[in-house]
Amino acid sequence: MTQDELKRKVAEAALDYVKDVTILGVGTGSTVNHFIDLLADLKGSIEGAVSSSQASSERLKKIGIPVLDLNAAGTLDVYVDGADEVNAAKQMIKGGGAALTREKIVAEASRKFVCIVDETKYVDVLGKFPLPVEVIPMARSLVARRLVELGGTPVWRENCITDNGNVILDVHNLSITDPVELERRINDIPGVVCNGVFALRPADVVLIGSPIGVRTLL
Ligand code: A5P
Repeated sequence: MTQDELKRKVAEAALDYVKDVTILGVGTGSTVNHFIDLLADLKGSIEGAVSSSQASSERLKKIGIPVLDLNAAGTLDVYVDGADEVNAAKQMIKGGGAALTREKIVAEASRKFVCIVDETKYVDVLGKFPLPVEVIPMARSLVARRLVELGGTPVWRENCITDNGNVILDVHNLSITDPVELERRINDIPGVVCNGVFALRPADVVLIGSPIGVRTLL
């Protein structure tokens, strides 16, 4: 099976979690794109979705699902999103698609976060995938220096402006043995809008697609 086929398979498994949901949160990325395409069949029962990116909003609108403002929608029952890495504690690295800030907001606003990944994303220790950090443009060099002090090697993701008008630093060479502590420490650097460690609010359910089936971490 190709990685894309695994993504499709795990996206199908996530449909079980949204069957009775009228307003849901929808993340960003190629795995979620499969999920959005599959939502077309449930369109009748879904009143709307809160989306974590312009790209997902466009895709939702194309299949006729209204995109709602989170301020009006309030607390969501379920949020479905992918990840770049996930560990056994259901903590993640996210933001490969530069949508981490809105993803963290929608995750926080949701009762249940269902993370959908193919098996290549499951790791013992987070950090092999460079950690995305969204930064206010004028603070880029300052934040980069502070990230070096934390032991990382930040690389500016050139030609990338987030949906919020900010820039991304991808931090290489981190071995994240204490994700909660690192998430807090990076949050504390002035100029950081958000970092891609999702540990303070981990996923509630992780669905992992493999050629022999979909494994569920609860
Ligand atoms: C978007 O910013 C990310 O957090 C995505 O959820 C993550 O990069 C997974 O993307 P894929 O599903 O494309 O692998």
